[in-house]
Amino acid sequence: MAELKQYRNESILRDASLYFLGAPTMLLFGPPGSGKTFLVRHLARQHGWRIRMVTCKESMRDEDFLGVLLLDGGSTRWVDGPLAQAFRGAAEGEKVILFLDEVNRMPPKQLNILIEAINDYDDEHFVLYNHLTGETLQAPKGNLKFVAAANIGQIGTSDLPEALLDRFVIHLHVPYPAPEEERKILADWGLEEHEAKFLVDFALATRELYAKGDLDFPLSTRMLVRVAQGLATWEEEAKRSGKSEGFSPSKRISAICKFLEGIFPYLAGGTAGNPEWSERTEALRQMMLTMLAELQTPKEAPRGKPSHERSKHDTTDVTRASDAKRSPGRTARKRARRGPDLTF
Ligand SMILES: Nc1ncnc2c1ncn2[C@@H]1O[C@H](COP(=O)(O)OP(=O)(O)O)[C@@H](O)[C@H]1O
Ligand SMILES: [Mg+2]
Repeated sequence: MAELKQYRNESILRDASLYFLGAPTMLLFGPPGSGKTFLVRHLARQHGWRIRMVTCKESMRDEDFLGVLLLDGGSTRWVDGPLAQAFRGAAEGEKVILFLDEVNRMPPKQLNILIEAINDYDDEHFVLYNHLTGETLQAPKGNLKFVAAANIGQIGTSDLPEALLDRFVIHLHVPYPAPEEERKILADWGLEEHEAKFLVDFALATRELYAKGDLDFPLSTRMLVRVAQGLATWEEEAKRSGKSEGFSPSKRISAICKFLEGIFPYLAGGTAGNPEWSERTEALRQMMLTMLAELQTPKEAPRGKPSHERSKHDTTDVTRASDAKRSPGRTARKRARRGPDLTF
């Protein structure tokens, strides 16, 4: 398995760690892609617990949760699902987190099974009755934790069933990491400082527009990481095919913009031709153009060249930063009329 990158949200990690140790159940909630799943993987690693994961979905059946009876040659064989695995492991002395990811998508029937398993049997144990096998499993509370994550954007926990909120003792909000943390995350994924700043500023703009109802979805931390990964893959591919020994700074910015255009197609312009892309999305395009106009990239030498060839203060780039410095607003407006220079 690939090495886990650092979890960059110190205060959340500290709180989550405390609550994890102190409470049998914890519900993490926040917007999609804010790092909830990643946080649980970190907690598990930090404290040496094993994760049994259930990714909840509307089409979930008891079998996905409890287990299935398989035909094996002429006979049948029972195979535990994650809930039964977690209980059996904990009963045998393993430290197990049953992690219910996207618990907000769990159908009521399976939610009831979960709630019954969490219900206090006595102060020391959780008890699972498996109605598919008739078996009862009993796990010491010290060995089993229930952690759930819910993607719930701006709404808070009000959309979640009360029974769930009631059984999960801790409700921890996991927002997007702070901008300086997100910039560090992108640096971890190989982005230069100015690239990380550009992307994070752009993400903040999308989140503001989304909060006002002017965008269908915001750019999450997950999406930011995907852009950085996409850029690395494109650059790697260019190197592998012998077409390039590495992208220049402006080529990298173009690639980042190209990726963003893939996420938000209206960034490419031409909204007039598509009634779906309403005028309001134009705000995002304008925002990006202004940011591009203000962006200062290092000198045009591919990454990997000696540092004296890529002085930080020397600015030449796709957006003609010298123009931008004189009048970023005017340049952006001019560029908006022409359409963005996202040739990649
Ligand atoms: N705080 C963080 N520190 C480092 N990387 C993060 C952080 N938050 C999110 N990420 C990155 O975003 C990706 C998606 O996060 P994830 O935990 O799947 O979000 P969620 O479960 O909230 O939808 C992670 O795999 C990781 O690469
Ligand atoms: Mg998740």
